[in-house]
Formats: sequence, C-alpha cells, structure tokens
Amino acid sequence: MGKKLGYAVVGLGVGKGHCDAAIASENADLIAVCDLIPEKMEKIAAKQPGLRMYTEFDELLKDPDVDIISICLPSAMHADFAVRALHAGKHVLVEKPIDITTDAAQKIEEARLATGLKAGVIHQNRFNLDMQAIRKALDAGRLGTLTLGTFAVKWFRNQDYYEGWHGTWDMDGGGSLMNQAVHTVDIMQWFMGDVESVTSHTGIYTHDIETEDATVSIIKFKNGALATFVSSTNCYPGICTDIQLYGTNGSVEADQDVLKTWKFKDFDEDFADELGIDAFDAAEEEEFMLKKYGSGNGGAAGGDPTILVGHRYMVEDMILAVRDDRDPAILPTEAMKSVRIVNAVYESARTGKTVYFE
Ligand SMILES: NC(=O)c1ccc[n+]([C@@H]2O[C@H](COP(=O)([O-])OP(=O)(O)OC[C@H]3O[C@@H](n4cnc5c(N)ncnc54)[C@H](O)[C@@H]3O)[C@@H](O)[C@H]2O)c1
Repeated sequence: MGKKLGYAVVGLGVGKGHCDAAIASENADLIAVCDLIPEKMEKIAAKQPGLRMYTEFDELLKDPDVDIISICLPSAMHADFAVRALHAGKHVLVEKPIDITTDAAQKIEEARLATGLKAGVIHQNRFNLDMQAIRKALDAGRLGTLTLGTFAVKWFRNQDYYEGWHGTWDMDGGGSLMNQAVHTVDIMQWFMGDVESVTSHTGIYTHDIETEDATVSIIKFKNGALATFVSSTNCYPGICTDIQLYGTNGSVEADQDVLKTWKFKDFDEDFADELGIDAFDAAEEEEFMLKKYGSGNGGAAGGDPTILVGHRYMVEDMILAVRDDRDPAILPTEAMKSVRIVNAVYESARTGKTVYFE
C-alpha cells in the first residue's frame, strides 16, 4: 500500500463526523483540525493522539502533510475557504450546501479547474442504499414516463437552534429549505432532472428567524413532469421526509433511507439479477425490496461492515478519488443545482411570480 493521505477538517460541528470517517479510513490519517474553539479540537485529539490543532486556517494551509481538507464551516464561508485551500495545493471536500449562491459555488469550480485538484461536495443522502436502488430503477427506465414527484421535509428545530448563524440570510442563505431540505432538493433534481420553473410561497410560523421556517413549491421539469416540494422546521418531531416518485409503469416511495413502496407494472429479470433481487414476478420483487430496504441503511447492508453510508461513504470516496486520481462522487457543478433551485424558490416567494430556468 502507498503512503496514507493526510486528512484535515476545518469546523468541528458536523466536521466531527468527517474526523471519525478519516480516522476510520485505511487510506488516510486524520492529522490536523482547525476551529476557533480549542476545546472542540481537544475532544478530537483525545481519540487521535498527535493531532495538530490550528485556530488559524492560514496556518493549516501551510502544513505540508495535509493533502485533503473537509470544509465544515457555516454555509456562506464554504467558497472562500475552499478556494483558498485549493490555491494552497489542498484537495477539498465541502459540506452541503456548496455555498449559498451559485456565483460562490462557481468560484470553487473555477479554482478546481485552475489548480487541477479535487473538489467534492457532501450530499450523503444520495448514497442511502434505497436511494441508490431507486436511481438504478430510473436508469433502467422501469418507472416508464415520470409524471409526478412529491417531496416533503417535515422536520422540527427549536428556537435555540436559531440563536447563531442558522436561519440568517447572510450566513445560512435561508432557513428550512437552504439548510435542512437542500439534501432532498438535491435528491429531487437528481431523480427528476432539469427544472423548468418554480412557483413558491414561504413563511415564518413558530420561530424568531429572519429567513423562513416553511416553504411550499410547485416545480415543473423540462421533461414535463411536475412535483410539489414542502420544507418545514415547525412539525412536531417524529415526522418523516417524503421522497415519492410516480411514473406510468412504476411508483416508489421512501422516507430517507427507509423504502416504503416499490410497485412496478412489469418484472425485469436483468434488473433483478443486477440488484440481486430474489424474485420471479413484480409482487415477489415488491416483497423482497421492502424486506431488504424497508428498515434503513443498516438493514439493507445486512451487517456488512464494508458497505459504507453517510459521511463515512463520502469521506472515503474523496480519499479514494485523490488516491486514484479520479473525480469525487459529487462535483461542484452538480452540487450547485440544488442551490439554484433553493434561490429560485426564495425569489418566487419574494416576487409573487413563477421563476423560469434557462
Ligand atoms: N451533511 C449534513 O448532514 C450536515 C449536517 C449538519 C451541518 N451540515 C453543514 O455543515 C456546515 C457546518 O454546519 P454545523 O452545523 O457543523 O455548524 P456549527 O456552527 O455547529 O459548526 C461550525 C464550526 O466552525 C467553526 N468556525 C467558524 N468560523 C471558523 C473559522 N474562521 N475558522 C475555523 N473554524 C471556524 C465554529 O467554531 C464551529 O465549531 C454547514 O454548511 C451545514 O449546512 C451538513
């Protein structure tokens, strides 16, 4: 095996998960962290002896042993820090959303192209095992003509959550949609294709917040399909995320990593072989799929520790992209699509008009 890559993480909120993923990797070592709060770094150092701790990002950039940096800062800081890292010779893995505007996201893409280094973006829900199965069904044309999608992120956040940068226009770029639901906006466009228009309402219901804590949109796609998209952080906790797709030959419904519905007009033997589906007709396929994917990633992985999901999957993918000199799973151009849709929702709600995409 070649030399292990040197991994670093800046921002130790969700960045803690990036640290754990880098520590668990056989292909990299977590060698450095950077945060304004030393106690956060010391907690990571307690499980990673010898960890270098930086309070100044510029000092981290000078560390010659750092190959890859996870950028896990408040959303509006992503492009600034990612571009600086790329120009300092470091590969970057950027948390979602890539940044809060497509212009900022474009700067990361330009720096990626100018430096020839790797820039990946986190949208880990794409790699939930049921989402991968749905994507394969779409690729195989099994849903027929896609006519409708219904998506709803019905979550809860208390007021304390909004005391810092969350829910601000300048740092979060929005509220329930830009922060929480951007994952599902990404899944929606990944499944349904390019957006033609967006018509939306937004509101503030239960929080003291400057952006929004609820949005409702009607989305039209270039392929003619329609979707509704709802986001909220006001729903009494314990409610789900609906990801629901309907076509002329198939219907699939899921709550994040839990598959709820898998109904197809026809059985496809090649598809069944490819996915290891033990079935002989559509009814048996439905039963098999709900049993396998109906209890979340853990159930679908069947206890196989080599099947990585969530941040473990995306951090390892980034490390292997650098090691093998290939693109990471999600490039900036792909990640900026959800940011564009989110900002179109806000524009539509603000102007009272439908926003059309070119
Ligand atoms: N993929 C996911 O599921 C997921 C989950 C949560 C958050 N996120 C994203 O991750 C990003 C961070 O969110 P969070 O919830 O971890 O935020 P957070 O506020 O909990 O953590 C941010 C950290 O960055 C540090 N920081 C701020 N400015 C800094 C600077 N100049 N130099 C070094 N450190 C600095 C802060 O001290 C803090 O520890 C956001 O973009 C958010 O959207 C993604």
